[in-house]
Amino acid sequence: MARILITSAIPYINGIKHLGNLVGSQLPADLYARYMRGRGHEVLFLCATDEHGTPAELAAAKAGLPVAEYCARMHEVQKELSEGFRLSFDKFGRSSSPQNHRLTQHFAGRLADNGLIGEVIEKQVYSVADGRFLPDRYIEGTCPNCGYDKARGDQCENCTKQLDPTDLINPRSAISGSTDLEVRETKHLYLRQSALRRDLSDWIDSKTDWPILTTSIARKWLDDGAGLQDRGITRDLDWGIPVRRGDADWPGMEGKVFYVWFDAPIEYIACAKEWSDEQGRPDADWERWWRTDKGADDVRYVQFMGKDNVPFHTLSFPATIIGSSEPWKLVDYIKSFNYLNYDGGQFSTSQGRGVFMDQALSILPADYWRWWLLSHAPESSDSEFTWENFQASVNKDLADVLGNFVSRVTKFCRSKFGEEVPAGGAWGDEEAALIDRLKTELAAYEGHMEAIEVRKAAASLRALWVLGNEYLQSAAPWTAVKTDPDRAAAITRLALNLIRFYAVISRPFIPDASDAMLAAMQTDDADWPEDVDTALTALPPGHAFTVPEVLFRKITDEERADWQSRFAGVRT
Ligand code: MF3
Ligand code: ZN
Repeated sequence: MARILITSAIPYINGIKHLGNLVGSQLPADLYARYMRGRGHEVLFLCATDEHGTPAELAAAKAGLPVAEYCARMHEVQKELSEGFRLSFDKFGRSSSPQNHRLTQHFAGRLADNGLIGEVIEKQVYSVADGRFLPDRYIEGTCPNCGYDKARGDQCENCTKQLDPTDLINPRSAISGSTDLEVRETKHLYLRQSALRRDLSDWIDSKTDWPILTTSIARKWLDDGAGLQDRGITRDLDWGIPVRRGDADWPGMEGKVFYVWFDAPIEYIACAKEWSDEQGRPDADWERWWRTDKGADDVRYVQFMGKDNVPFHTLSFPATIIGSSEPWKLVDYIKSFNYLNYDGGQFSTSQGRGVFMDQALSILPADYWRWWLLSHAPESSDSEFTWENFQASVNKDLADVLGNFVSRVTKFCRSKFGEEVPAGGAWGDEEAALIDRLKTELAAYEGHMEAIEVRKAAASLRALWVLGNEYLQSAAPWTAVKTDPDRAAAITRLALNLIRFYAVISRPFIPDASDAMLAAMQTDDADWPEDVDTALTALPPGHAFTVPEVLFRKITDEERADWQSRFAGVRT
């Protein structure tokens, strides 16, 4: 039994995530966590909300709530949605937790002690009326390029020109509208990432088994001098983790907070402490996952994320860890994803384009989405969600192949033999051939799951379902029963056992359907089929079952057309 630590990139707090966000990190991480638990490994699966930074402050202001309250509410919303999608986190934490405050301040102190923090005096726009510095997004004015009067300090939304706040004509505060702005000096901390270039480069080079998408992005940032520049890790904001040097004040840094991208990945660690604290358990319980001096040297740590997150996980966060010179666990494998597009364009949170997690669950149960998203995961390239494709996959894979198998077998048995596994007859060549094919395909499935090849794993699982259908079609118990009831009983016994077998192996993809199948087979035996022959005799003759409700219903053309138009426009 191995120990596997799994983290998903932690979603920003501001707003409900769309299906593109979901398939880029949390959902495949859940697939892997469920699979590894199913194989009997010890898993710690962590995720959290990413709660700091200007987007959180702005979203709170827009919602008319104090930012702490906004975050608390949105955390609950995101938590419920993740439960709705059956994301099996051991802990869904918060980057604003006291645990993360302490740990972030601790890391900053260690980095400073190791000479890796520089103090830099910068000039920034200060709003006298608001009594605060204004980050780029908080300054508005007229674009010098196109005359648009709501250009932001960093960019004009109208003509897309990149701007400096000082380029704006008639600059004003986006908070109060005040034009009483001045340029003031302010001190910030910089992490000397460049001093760690060698360490990081050697570490990346040692990861020869990583997906190309991951290493190519990391190498590009390492080799292109701009990528590993020293990085500002503090901000002049109210909301965030106060800058402290461990437990001590940091002279000159009063009233400042750490930059969101500094504290967010540290939450991966703090989340483990939130998990053990919540259960009143000692620090040793989370440290054995995270401290190589306390047992974590035999943990395998796997991270999941979208490609835009790769630089932060291959360079910045490892720089924090390595720079601390403490024995923290470094990631062993990074699985990254391309983007999922929506019906000929992009999913867009700001424009409300696409299907969002709450909307998805309001029209169909989680398993339908899980299956489509995972079987079309954007691995080797970007992929696209279309309603036609979604309808076709659900109707074919889930309803026609898996659902139909379960329904045919259970109904046939009920009508000919009653609601228990029939006795009599013996398995012959046809069954031996089927079991052989199942073994081969199951091994392929397991291989893809170990390698986190999500699409290939889905294809193998579907192939396993198809094998059962083909067997049923050619063995034709409904014909055999007329002349040779024992033969029909033997076929049916195998088919009923296949339902349990499918329930177990399909669980990581479609956990609810899988539970329904196990419940119908009246068994709790969800052990992984280490040996296929034995697994197919788990339900002995005489074992009672029930005919389940329809597992998956088909999506009609009318529904598809309706959803297509409902989700085409802008979310209100
Ligand atoms: N919130 C970021 C995003 O959604 C991800 C942060 S991952 C962490 O892109 F490593 F910083 F935690
Ligand atoms: Zn412009």
